Amino acid sequence: MQKSLAITIAASLAALLSVSGCTGEKKSPPQPEKPPAAALDMQAVAGEAAAGKDIYFRYCHFCHGQKGMGDGPVGIALSPHPADFVNDAKRMSKTDAELFKSITEGIHKEVGGESMSMPRWQEILSEKERWDVLAFIRQLEREGKAAPK
Ligand code: HEC
Repeated sequence: MQKSLAITIAASLAALLSVSGCTGEKKSPPQPEKPPAAALDMQAVAGEAAAGKDIYFRYCHFCHGQKGMGDGPVGIALSPHPADFVNDAKRMSKTDAELFKSITEGIHKEVGGESMSMPRWQEILSEKERWDVLAFIRQLEREGKAAPK
């Protein structure tokens, strides 16, 4: 049961990623986003963690884990593991604008001969949803640090 659940999750994730892969082509998108400068101004409008929680458990926890430690069922299979929002202080010292950019555009890089990717969410989540989910990630970060080790 556990196993078939993991497979279902992996399959839906693969579908999700291939969708984002297709739309990643440089065709002119039907609904262009606001220019980046405007997006950064949005930082003043803080995301809502409560709304972000739903989004996180729909799209992110497979990789990033229930508590944001990079240990979701898909995350543990990735090498290197996805970002740990609780213990990776260096990463989390990035500004919200930087993290928002990563969520929007995704990350692709080569690490020791292996390539790792964080999907891009621009086509899947609205701008508000991306700020909301970031607010929830900041909440996980605070809760994780406060929790007894
Ligand atoms: C397929 C697995 C996967 C999924 C699903 C995923 N991530 Fe990630 N994420 C990663 C990996 C891998 C990294 C680490 C990239 C690196 O080391 O630079 C990462 C890094 C991040 C970072 C840190 C970015 C930075 O600038 O350092 C944030 C924030 C983040 N993810 C948010 C999210 C959010 C929000 C979602 C859901 C909407 C999500 N992730 C879903 C794999 C995933």
